[in-house]
Amino acid sequence: MAASASIQKTIYLGPFVHSQSLTELDICEQGAIGVDEKGVIAFVEKSNPDVEDIKSKDSAWKDAQIVKITGNGFFFPGFIDTHTHAPQHPNTGLFGKTTLLDWLQTYTFPMESSFKDLNRADRIYQNFVARTLSHGTTTCAYYATIHVPATNLLADICLKRGQRALVGRVCMNSDLSPEYYRDASVESSVADSKASIDYIRSIDPSGEIVKPIVTPRFAPSCTSECLSAIGQLAKETDTHVQTHISENKNEVALVQELFPESKSYTDVYDTHALLGPKTILAHAVHLSPEERQTILERGSKISHCPASNTAITSGCSPIRTLLNEGHTIGLGTDISGGFHPSILDNVRQAIWVSRHLSIQTSSDAAKLSTEEALYLATRGGAAVVGLEDKVGGFEVGKEFDAQMIVLGEVGEVGGRGEGGIEEGPVDVFGWESWGEKVEKWVYAGDDRNTVAVWVRGRLVHKTGKYRGQE
Ligand code: GUN
Ligand code: ZN
Repeated sequence: MAASASIQKTIYLGPFVHSQSLTELDICEQGAIGVDEKGVIAFVEKSNPDVEDIKSKDSAWKDAQIVKITGNGFFFPGFIDTHTHAPQHPNTGLFGKTTLLDWLQTYTFPMESSFKDLNRADRIYQNFVARTLSHGTTTCAYYATIHVPATNLLADICLKRGQRALVGRVCMNSDLSPEYYRDASVESSVADSKASIDYIRSIDPSGEIVKPIVTPRFAPSCTSECLSAIGQLAKETDTHVQTHISENKNEVALVQELFPESKSYTDVYDTHALLGPKTILAHAVHLSPEERQTILERGSKISHCPASNTAITSGCSPIRTLLNEGHTIGLGTDISGGFHPSILDNVRQAIWVSRHLSIQTSSDAAKLSTEEALYLATRGGAAVVGLEDKVGGFEVGKEFDAQMIVLGEVGEVGGRGEGGIEEGPVDVFGWESWGEKVEKWVYAGDDRNTVAVWVRGRLVHKTGKYRGQE
């Protein structure tokens, strides 16, 4: 289906939940969301609307299809993964006791280098895009590899399956990478990146679903000349930029060694024209106050990758401090530094990491609430990828990127005693408030609860539990 193909007008009926602010959820217990042929939300009714009333009041909606939630379900905005590496998917869960720099050499570069084989790339990328969609991820900022054909293929797959994506060919020309897996020269690094930008813009000229993103892997992977040329390319082509920053203490020391004239890790990117409002910086664990100030002044955004930061023992990013300072923050799975392709899992991980910081500092200040973590997963992520006007919540004018969440219901005594077990890991007994149902989903739910997923009103994933439209 082409990015702009039209869909049938639909009224989504049932409870819906989305962030009202960083600290508050808006829970509508029975509502209606009308989505037009372009996938744009045309109306939102919050107080137990009658669908026949809606249809009779406005003849434009009389033939609309109805998608209805019955039981313990709700619509929730699609998740936004602001940082992940699609080619590392087969390594998910494999990291042993490594930390960043030896992990890259042991696991990552050998796997990524194999993507010169396009059949292998196809198999892995098809699987990963389907997998992230099944976890409710409707937008994803992807690192690919250095290979242009495989990078372009990833963009093709996202467009075809309907997942919004920023897709980046990885630039890496320094001798940190093995000879078998690096760009041959600065010129080829720029030319290959440009070729991929042009291709991605050719398959989706409006950028509604897929967009290119300039992707210098991280400072140690690139020479100063390469970083400058890539910064220039991003400027000339008005493209997003993504990279890693201050993930691990040994990496920070390495950057200081490789770029002795720079004041800091952040300064390396700043002096190579790579920090701007369209820049996504993954990790931001060990930044100094001056670096954080520079990032804020440049309007660059932060991708918090809590599972990855724990798995490869990088550290605990001080999210409360970053939020208080006014940074724009989303969540990233960072496969395969991270061990789970689900943003819901990273919502939990963000909360756990914040609690460990709270324990270390003997203060509650660091703790993230459920509401805050869900905000980062949706509206925060939307702002990180520059889509805050289009997705992240259910308002008129936004595009309908959503997941239908269904929770298991435990039957009455003497009835379905084991009721709900096949409906996923969350057991609802019937006395929970709506806020409690959402919390139970956040802490125990998984992809079994995500029964259907839409991007711009297009159904892009469903399970056998989805009963579909009426
Ligand atoms: N820094 C440079 N490359 C990578 C990568 O692939 N994953 C993570 N987590 N950090 C990096
Ligand atoms: Zn990463």
